Order: sequence, then C-alpha cells, then structure tokens
Amino acid sequence: MKILSIETSCDETGISILEIKGNKKNPIFEVLANSLNSQIKIHAPFGGVYPMLAKREHIKNLPILLKKTLKKIAMQDIAINPKIDLIAVTSGPGLEPALWTGIVFAKELSKKWNVPVIPVNHMEGHILSVFGKNKGKFQIPKINFPILSLLVSGGHTELVLSKDWMKYKIIGESLDDAAGEAFDKVARMLELPYPGGPEISKLAEQERKTKKIPNFSLPRPMIYTKNFNFSFSGLKTSVLYLIKKIGKLDDKTKKEIACEFENAVIETLVHKTKKAIEKYNIKTMIVAGGVSSNKHLRKEMKKMVENKQNLIFPGKNLSTDNSIMIGIVGYFKFLAKKGKISKSFKIKADGNLRF
Ligand code: KG4
Ligand code: ZN
Repeated sequence: MKILSIETSCDETGISILEIKGNKKNPIFEVLANSLNSQIKIHAPFGGVYPMLAKREHIKNLPILLKKTLKKIAMQDIAINPKIDLIAVTSGPGLEPALWTGIVFAKELSKKWNVPVIPVNHMEGHILSVFGKNKGKFQIPKINFPILSLLVSGGHTELVLSKDWMKYKIIGESLDDAAGEAFDKVARMLELPYPGGPEISKLAEQERKTKKIPNFSLPRPMIYTKNFNFSFSGLKTSVLYLIKKIGKLDDKTKKEIACEFENAVIETLVHKTKKAIEKYNIKTMIVAGGVSSNKHLRKEMKKMVENKQNLIFPGKNLSTDNSIMIGIVGYFKFLAKKGKISKSFKIKADGNLRF
C-alpha cells in the first residue's frame, strides 16, 4: 500500500509517500518521495517561530511540495488519485494554526482522491522516527520491551514508557520549558541565531576541547528529585543573571557559557533517564526529537547505557520534524484499526495532544 503523509506542526512543511510491502508482521517500507521545506530563515529574524507566519508559509508551500512529491512518483495531475491508499496527517501536539493547514489540506485531498485520512500524534512520530530512513528501504528491527523514549524537542521534554507497540505512558516531563526551547532562549541571550540548539552545541564542542574548568557553574535543575520530571526555566534564568553579572560578552565567554549550559542540560537528561532505565528494567532506549541530534547528548547517552540496553537514535535528517515519521505511525495505526478507517472529516487540530 501507499501512504501519503503530511507534517505541519511547527516550522517544517513535509510531504512524503511511503510504499509498504511484505507481510504485516515484518513490512518493508520504501520512501518513494520525500519533500521538506524549512521555514527557519523566515522565523530566524524573530528569534523563534511565529504561529501565524508558520500558517501562512504552510498554506503557500503545501501545494508546491505536493506537486514536487507527486512528480517523483511520475504523477502530475492532482485531480487523479495517484494510487494512494491512505493519508496520514499530524493532528497534534504543535501550533494549532499550523496543524490546521495540514489537516485541511489532507481533507481536501481525501475528498479529491476518495482516500481515508488518519490523524497522527507528532510525538509518536518522533519515537518511530528512529526506525525510518529518509530514502530507500527500511524494516523495523526486532525490539525488546520495555522501551523508554527520551523525547527532546523544541516543544517537549518527555520520558515515555512503552511496554508494547503503540502503548505509551509519560513517566516524566518538563514542568516548564522544553530542552530545545531552553537551548533556543539561551542562544538568543548569547546573540546566536535561531534555532539555537546547533549554535550552542558548536560553541560548546569548541570549549570542551580546551578541557579547561569553567569559571562559573550553573545549576542542574531537579536532578535529585525522586520523580522523572524536568525543569529548564530556572536554568535559563541563571544564565540571564550570569550574563548580567559578566557584562560584556566576548567570544571566549560565550563559548564557556554555551558549554556549561549544555553540560547542565545533558547531565540532567542523562541522570533522570538512567534512573528511569533502572526502575523500569528497560531493554531498549530511544532518544528522539530535534535535540537528539546534539553530539554531547549522544556521547553521554552511549556512555551511560554501556551496551546494557539497545540504544537507538534517529538517522540522518529524521531527528528534526519530517513527514516520514508520520507515515510510519500512520501505517501502524492503519493496521491497529484493521484497515477500518472512516473517511473521517472529524479530525481536529489539538495543540496539546498527549499520549
Ligand atoms: O523536533 P524539532 O525539530 O521540532 C519540534 O517538534 O519542536 O526540534 C527543534 C528543536 C529546536 O529547539 C532546536 O534548537 C533543537 O531542536 N536542536 C538542538 C540541536 N539541533 C536541533 N538542540 C541541541 N543541540 C542540537 N544539535
Ligand atoms: Zn517535533
């Protein structure tokens, strides 16, 4: 079967077509087409994502991306069903005006092609993103349960426990800012461009190589609390006070702050994850979402699990938002419903959708 998937939850517009063959227990996925348009350049001057601007850009880009995607499978005329069996669309969480653009677009195509639509939870997409590839074929490997997923993105920081496929329970989450959000806000304080995560990471890596002990230290928020929750807002405020105290920021000081900030975030994430792994006797560890591309996080996670658990990260270009992960979830939801999906026009955007 062929699935067309659509992602518009934040500042990336994505459309892909996946073909799924083979038996249901061990399907072979093939990426027939994958188009992604990033709005980073448009939001960068504002230092963050503006929902109404994101909406306008998605509306503009969706038809362009669809044309490009269909062209890749040698179809041009959107009036003719390009033999798509299912449309999967992100319905939340995310920015509601942005989510609606994808949903409305999916519904229009569904009418035109007479194809059902299935709503997909973006965070479930991030979890299953670790099994995808952005081109060619892939299969889901054999996985031992329970799985623990650390989801770290611009909007979320969550520890999610899965005792089986498609079963999710949030066991811990950020009580305020998400990890990626903290990276973006601290980057802004350091006068670095948006998105701040990769910028901070670059400076932090340079500073780490010098092996110098920092001149200051930042707090590791909630690291010793007995639950699996996080808090990054206080850490961000500590950086603000530190910058005020220092006064003028030179390049060297920026690198030191970036490194100490990154250390504080990653230490907290890794410590809490370790405690959760022990408590729930985790066999497979997944780290996904935009922040999972952070080099230091990957290195520290690898050190922490030391081959005791199977540790999986998303492949190339699948850490940040994309529509391939939405197609993968769409397929499993389709299987779970045994193919019985109504041509649902009731799908709604839910900015705060939870597992
Ligand atoms: O998953 P994602 O693309 O979008 C959301 O669903 O939020 O995540 C974007 C977030 C941004 O906050 C960005 O700064 C962060 O991921 N990010 C990073 C890195 N690359 C992206 N944070 C730290 N280190 C990185 N290398
Ligand atoms: Zn995301």
